[in-house]
Amino acid sequence: MLLMVYFLSLAAMFKDLKIFIYELPSEYNENWLSNKRCSNHLFASEVAIHRALLNADDFRTFDPNEADLFFVPVYVSCNFSTVNGSPTIVHARSLLFSAIQFITKNYPFWNRSQGFDHIFVASHDYGACFHAMEDRAIDNGIPEFLMNSILLQTFGVNYKHPCQDVENVLIPPYISPESIRKTLEKAPLTGNRDIMVFFRGKMEVHPKNVSGKFYSKRVRTEIWRRYKGDRRFFLQRHRFTGYQSEITRSVFCLCPLGWAPWSPRLVESVALGCVPVIIADGIRLPFSSAVKWSEISLTVAEREVGKLGQILEHVAATNLSTIQKNLWDPAVRRALLFNDHMQRGDATWQILTSLYKKLNRSYRRSRVPSQ
Ligand SMILES: *[C@@H]1O[C@H](CO)[C@@H](O)[C@H](O)[C@H]1NC(C)=O
Ligand SMILES: *[C@@H]1O[C@H](CO)[C@@H](O)[C@H](O)[C@H]1NC(C)=O
Ligand SMILES: *[C@@H]1O[C@H](CO)[C@@H](O)[C@H](O)[C@H]1NC(C)=O
Ligand SMILES: *[C@@H]1O[C@H](CO)[C@@H](O)[C@H](O)[C@H]1NC(C)=O
Ligand SMILES: *[C@@H]1O[C@H](CO)[C@@H](O)[C@H](O)[C@H]1NC(C)=O
Repeated sequence: MLLMVYFLSLAAMFKDLKIFIYELPSEYNENWLSNKRCSNHLFASEVAIHRALLNADDFRTFDPNEADLFFVPVYVSCNFSTVNGSPTIVHARSLLFSAIQFITKNYPFWNRSQGFDHIFVASHDYGACFHAMEDRAIDNGIPEFLMNSILLQTFGVNYKHPCQDVENVLIPPYISPESIRKTLEKAPLTGNRDIMVFFRGKMEVHPKNVSGKFYSKRVRTEIWRRYKGDRRFFLQRHRFTGYQSEITRSVFCLCPLGWAPWSPRLVESVALGCVPVIIADGIRLPFSSAVKWSEISLTVAEREVGKLGQILEHVAATNLSTIQKNLWDPAVRRALLFNDHMQRGDATWQILTSLYKKLNRSYRRSRVPSQ
């Protein structure tokens, strides 16, 4: 009953909350979509959120004068390196800056509030710092011109960090809901899981010292070293396009840090019903009011990685079925996926809920910067 009231009061928000989506020249967004990967890779929430908002008739407004919030759709993660295929985000700052120049020139709303009611997506490693390496990200900092705005970002830690020192909503990385649906058609959540512990991805045997830092703080190296010959562990170091079906066959899925603490594995594990084992000290997880992370996942400290075998055996013998029951609740899966047409409870819906709460707290109808 209480839950019902809660949903009704949140449903009322859709009549109330009004978002204006800027129409920017196509070089800021549409043009990048000529590369199919742009709307599908792990940073693609910048595209997915834009799409979902464009389709969200209930609270999208075409009249900026009645808007509570302004969404600035700039895709910064789709300039893929011709060398290694990974996104190069060196141009992110200048592209965003030029988008802001465009809206300042053509509309009065940025100037009115200095951007505090404006929303941007920063969906790659160190979020609003726009650099893939932590030291450089911290050195560069959050661009001055974004400091007043609200950032939707995948990067989050539960301690003070310069790259989250801005009003932000933590969001999950993008995984295509279509790919999840297809995989689950072939292998239901409650089907046979014959792999106890699964990990596929980069595990360097001799990680390079990159100006004093080692990939994954060598956690993945340690996993490989300790468990490569262990029959309980299915560890693979190479890419395989069918890896989602491996996740549906697994009980526990390791989600160790990479360079940044967050990983798309977290979303894929949850969506495919494999208990995520989070190994990333200090990580902050998205939508904590909708997803009770402690009830659906396990957290293992980085320094305890050598005890994974024992820890997971223990869980398998005690509370595994409780965790799986919580994890297999469809509401959990829904909360982490972005749909082109927003559904109640999905990732875009969670973002709007968070934004609404922020507005309700401090910004609502206020037209002057709060400081
Ligand atoms: C894309 O990245 C390359 C470097 O990898 C850079 O030379 C180029 O200017 C970037 N393109 C845009 C449009 O920013
Ligand atoms: C916004 O402010 C800038 C500088 O403060 C000014 O150059 C610009 O003309 C203003 N734009 C509008 C639309 O008022
Ligand atoms: C890694 O390299 C840095 C120099 O960039 C050096 O100071 C440090 O001692 C090296 N660390 C290890 C463990 O080799
Ligand atoms: C399951 O047990 C482990 C310890 O073995 C504990 O850390 C975890 O919080 C428990 N999870 C649930 C949902 O009970
Ligand atoms: C909005 O704020 C009012 C007054 O502070 C409060 O009663 C209400 O519960 C809030 N609504 C939400 C959805 O946070």
